Amino acid sequence: MLHFKLTQEFQPAEVLVVLLAQDPQLKENLAAIASFAHLTADDLVANFKAEKKDSTAFYTAHQHPTGVKKIYLLGLGETKEDKPLSPEAVRQVMRSFVHKNKTTLPTVISIDCLQFSSLKQLSAAQLPAFVEALAGGSLLGLYEIGKYKQEPPKPVAFDTLRIHLAVKTQANDPIEKSIDKAKVVAVAQLRVFDMVNTPSNRFTPEDFAKTAELIGSEASINVKVFRGKEVKEQNLHALWSVGKGSENLPTFSILEYKPAHFTKSIGLVGKGVNFDTGGYNIKTQGMAPMKIDMAGAATMLGVMESIAKLQLPIHVVCIIPACENMISGNAYKPSDIIDSYAGYTIEVEDTDAEGRIMMADALAYLTKNYQTDYLLDIATLTGASIISLGLKAGAMFTNNEELATKFYDLGQQTEEKVWRLPLWDDYADALKSDMADVKNYANSQAGSVTAAKFLEKFTNKHPAWVHFDVAGMCWMDSEFAKTRNATAFGVRLMVEFAESLVAGK
Ligand code: BES
Ligand code: MN
Ligand code: ZN
Repeated sequence: MLHFKLTQEFQPAEVLVVLLAQDPQLKENLAAIASFAHLTADDLVANFKAEKKDSTAFYTAHQHPTGVKKIYLLGLGETKEDKPLSPEAVRQVMRSFVHKNKTTLPTVISIDCLQFSSLKQLSAAQLPAFVEALAGGSLLGLYEIGKYKQEPPKPVAFDTLRIHLAVKTQANDPIEKSIDKAKVVAVAQLRVFDMVNTPSNRFTPEDFAKTAELIGSEASINVKVFRGKEVKEQNLHALWSVGKGSENLPTFSILEYKPAHFTKSIGLVGKGVNFDTGGYNIKTQGMAPMKIDMAGAATMLGVMESIAKLQLPIHVVCIIPACENMISGNAYKPSDIIDSYAGYTIEVEDTDAEGRIMMADALAYLTKNYQTDYLLDIATLTGASIISLGLKAGAMFTNNEELATKFYDLGQQTEEKVWRLPLWDDYADALKSDMADVKNYANSQAGSVTAAKFLEKFTNKHPAWVHFDVAGMCWMDSEFAKTRNATAFGVRLMVEFAESLVAGK
């Protein structure tokens, strides 16, 4: 794990990293760097425009008295009065820098927020969020995706990041705290990356249960798991029906974090379909990516882990329903009428609309057995959500106006953007069944809305329920791998939500 050292003095290491925004001070900042490195200012100014993720590196001309051998300039992009420097730009730039250079960096590097960088203009009030982003981005940059190679990439030597700050820091100071927070959240996000990227033969419903128990043992979280037949015995018939066709039977993990003092409570549910073949309505295209159909569950474990390790004074109950949607002599079939924990019967019109069925039991279980002020769920529920919003935002559904505004704002802040789609009752007509209480699918348009309407039926009319459909957002093409890979979308969004409850915002 990377270590962070805050220093008030300028004590650069062999490698000095300077983050620069494209702002009116850029020329001046570059001139100062040129003078420090004994270079010609004109060359630097001509060559470095500080576009976002621009990066340039040069060696100091001779044995520099400070010991600096190499300087990296990293661009943060354009900033204006109405578009000030954001911690998110810093987070992305640091992640990218560490990802690209982690194998060549020396053990100690230093980041300047004091002499040359645009970050020196930050106020004491702004600094914690920016230092958190520096630390959090760097930690994510260390992610190693090649875990299953015969010779996995070696851990890097790079292990200390010295951050030079102009502001005074003492123990328990907000800047120290922001580094602790960055570590907790990044460790949780890295675990989410692993869960989501790992294919289903190596990450099964039982592995969800084991991970829940592991997280429980690391933080003060109570964990109770129903495995295999116990799922059926607990009347979780809907989850059981979806998962019974696989040799890897369903698991249902309940995690509860209850600090001595709390003022608010949150219920969390995430879709954990370890693999979605579609079932008998088998997927004829796009099946291989369905190893990521458990990203919602992974995300909620990340949120739970973060909240508990940050010791936020909030009571949290997190439910992870996990199963595989497979075909076999034992699998559920189109037209089956199945039972559910809530008591409603469900006509299975399409076995590929399985997420809403197994989520229904988790939502019903949570709302029947726990009273929480908020109820949040996240799922890779529908391809239709990608058709609506592309790969730029997740779909949000809620009947609570206040929460809609709040999550919209938090999405803008964290750059885990969400956009609200409607939950009008008109959309539920399509789910009426002749024989059962509800059917799971209708050949209708607005597929993400009907899916959300289906879930709503199982929330016990919870007044503060928010559903996120993130089929497109939880994995993404990126600079970090050759193929689409996990993003941990939603972790920061919901951790910030929890923190905002503590702050009473
Ligand atoms: N897991 C899929 C949704 C999905 C699609 C996730 C693309 C990630 C990327 C879900 O279970 C599914 O199969 N949905 C169907 C619903 C349809 C059968 C009503 C879909 O979106 O086509
Ligand atoms: Mn499906
Ligand atoms: Zn699915």
